[in-house]
Amino acid sequence: MNARFTALAPTIPERWPTRLTELLGIRWPLLLGGMMWLSDARLVAAMVRAGGMGFITARSLRTDEDFRQTLHECRRLTKEQPFGVNLTLSRRGSGNEAMTTRLKIALQEGVRIFETAGLPPTELMPIFQNAGAIVIHKCAHVRHAVSAQNMGVDAVTLVGMEEGGHPGSNQLPTFLNGAFALEQLHIPLALGGGIGHGRQIAAALALGADAVVMGSVFTPALETPAHDAYKQRVIATDAHGTRAVLGSLGDTWRVLDNENARKVATLEEAGARTHAEFGQLISGERTQALAYQAGQHEEGMLSMGPAVGFARAVVPLAEIVHRLQAECMQATSRFQRMLAS
Ligand SMILES: Cc1cc2nc3c(=O)[nH]c(=O)nc-3n(C[C@H](O)[C@H](O)[C@H](O)COP(=O)(O)O)c2cc1C
Repeated sequence: MNARFTALAPTIPERWPTRLTELLGIRWPLLLGGMMWLSDARLVAAMVRAGGMGFITARSLRTDEDFRQTLHECRRLTKEQPFGVNLTLSRRGSGNEAMTTRLKIALQEGVRIFETAGLPPTELMPIFQNAGAIVIHKCAHVRHAVSAQNMGVDAVTLVGMEEGGHPGSNQLPTFLNGAFALEQLHIPLALGGGIGHGRQIAAALALGADAVVMGSVFTPALETPAHDAYKQRVIATDAHGTRAVLGSLGDTWRVLDNENARKVATLEEAGARTHAEFGQLISGERTQALAYQAGQHEEGMLSMGPAVGFARAVVPLAEIVHRLQAECMQATSRFQRMLAS
């Protein structure tokens, strides 16, 4: 940071209060959405310590015991501060029963903050409600956000088509989705998809959102449990280096545009219409073993959106959060100066 920037830099307040920071007991309205294979205890705890909220991805753990150990580890690393668990209910149906068990384990271990995604959490709602847990349901269509509100969730995250991961069949970008949703929602709203700069956070809060959800921009954080070769590939990727595939199967997946994704796109263009036809190319286990663990970043389906263009170095998560906060404050003070003039 040069001297001129330092002189102009507005102070970063300790807290930025919104309905979601109040609900979750956090200082800044920044959520690190659950990231399959990557949102482990260390990464989630780093986000909690930085003043936001993170979610352990329950699906990433092979056994219930591994999951329980991860929760213990996260509790130790956050020094007992609350953290969240992501329960992704697959549209393909696989492994969804295990999510009920993982929810019960998380509750036994004292977790009270959950991010649900994929299918609506209809069957989990009574369990959440009996336990007095906070549920934030993530979806990509305004109508699904309204259904979730009617179902009794505490907040929704709405993502746009630029989200890294599974943005669903929705074709609207994040800010358009958000503006439409705000006409119909009375519960707190987090907006996500394509956010990687602090001025976008200021814009989302100005729009009326209560928080932002991010993923891609945090993938190369120092704490992320992935090979350095993967992180180097990520920081070398610009905003045009991702692509959405499998839309014709009703299962849009936005990923890094690597060799594997191009093979998937070629098969899809040739008419493949069932997940089975893509075989190992879309296997999560293979992605974990080859890309995240061994660093073979041209293998596997690496969820990623264009916000990756803002990830330019492998640095501790707290440094990314600090950059986002400083940029957010700069954008905010520009706004204030405009109004004051
Ligand atoms: C590597 C990666 C893995 C993800 N895995 C999941 C997941 O398992 N469950 C889920 O609900 N969302 C998942 N997401 C979506 C994120 O939670 C978040 O909604 C998204 O990253 C926000 O959009 P952005 O990537 O444009 O910032 C993943 C995203 C990434 C980048």
